[in-house]
Amino acid sequence: MNPVRYGMIGGGQGAFIGGVHRTAAAIAGNWRLVAGAFSSTPAKAKASGAEIGVDPARTYGSWAEMLEREAALPPEIRIEAVSIVTPNHMHAPPAVAAMEAGFDVIIDKPLADSLANAQAIAGAAARTGRRIGVTHTYTGYPLVKQARRLVASGDFGKVRRVAVKYTQDWLSRASDLAGNKQAEWRTDPARSGDAGAFGDIGTHAANLVEFITGQRIASICAELTMLGGRRIDDDGAALLRLSGGGRGTLTASQVCVGDINDLAISVYCDEAGLHWRQQEPNTLRVGYRDRPDEIWHAGANRAYLAGDILAIQRTPGGHPEGYLEAFANIYAAFGNAIRGEDAAGDEPGFATMDDAIAGMNFIRASLESSRGGAVWVDL
Ligand SMILES: NC(=O)c1ccc[n+]([C@@H]2O[C@H](COP(=O)([O-])OP(=O)(O)OC[C@H]3O[C@@H](n4cnc5c(N)ncnc54)[C@H](O)[C@@H]3O)[C@@H](O)[C@H]2O)c1
Repeated sequence: MNPVRYGMIGGGQGAFIGGVHRTAAAIAGNWRLVAGAFSSTPAKAKASGAEIGVDPARTYGSWAEMLEREAALPPEIRIEAVSIVTPNHMHAPPAVAAMEAGFDVIIDKPLADSLANAQAIAGAAARTGRRIGVTHTYTGYPLVKQARRLVASGDFGKVRRVAVKYTQDWLSRASDLAGNKQAEWRTDPARSGDAGAFGDIGTHAANLVEFITGQRIASICAELTMLGGRRIDDDGAALLRLSGGGRGTLTASQVCVGDINDLAISVYCDEAGLHWRQQEPNTLRVGYRDRPDEIWHAGANRAYLAGDILAIQRTPGGHPEGYLEAFANIYAAFGNAIRGEDAAGDEPGFATMDDAIAGMNFIRASLESSRGGAVWVDL
């Protein structure tokens, strides 16, 4: 085992997803956190590093300092990759600089705050040849991967319709923005980008559609809305046309009262419908017209799952895995790719630059459609 040495950008005291990334990397086992620039405030960055247990000499006051000082260390000591877990407006500057400094990048979604900044990241990756992996968490679940394989097998015929919803309620009150750091930047176009809920969780829903169907969203007709006084969407729905001819609906909302974090997808093919919901991630229901439904179970002892999907499960059969393990599967796959052990087949195990740019195009087209009065817009 030769773990990938990484430095984290963001994810300091009071942050949401940075801790999840560190836990995922630790579960994956092929990563080692050795440096960090954990906050935009140097003192907080240092205090965060001390709490996390990173060497004070490698806990930096800014990401620029981290990249410069790490690049000057001997190759066998310096970081090899960075994990970027900052708000959306602070994705492109460190991602581009990290690749220019010779480091691979694992980064959270959406790729950037604008399509232009996402393209700047893509340009840096092409220029430098560095690797980039994007953490679309839900594709790390074993049964989401199995659903993709079942659709790809062709046994169920073609995809006719997809229905995906990602609904939350944590922004459903006007008062939810006060004193909530995560809410504040997500509703500020200068830090979130022009999209709110559609960028934050709509991109996950869109990515899940594309991952399971193996098709891109080709056109979209969207209506985005917001509670009074907010500047960007906190709610919206869209009709989709898929590249393979199927149709779909997508709902993304952070104001659906009573839904804590409800991501659910149904994919209807000619001969069967597949249904998966994150709140019960270890079962996949396949419904038929002429015979009873099938329930597929996750578990390392369910020999009917594909071999590589069995291999990424960690707990004994019947002991459920969840969000952290799904996240860890993404880290494990990207770490392996950095070590030159790319997954076989067409599924690298993490979202690629192409997937992430598709997500940014989804945001761009949704906004354009909604602003035009819910007209069809091609991606
Ligand atoms: N994959 C998922 O399921 C998932 C879930 C939540 C958030 N996210 C994404 O993760 C990113 C972060 O979201 P969050 O909710 O954790 O945000 P957050 O506000 O909780 O944390 C952001 C962190 O970045 C730090 N930061 C900001 N500017 C910085 C800079 N210049 N240098 C160093 N650190 C800086 C902040 O101090 C903070 O520690 C966003 O892009 C978000 O869309 C993804």
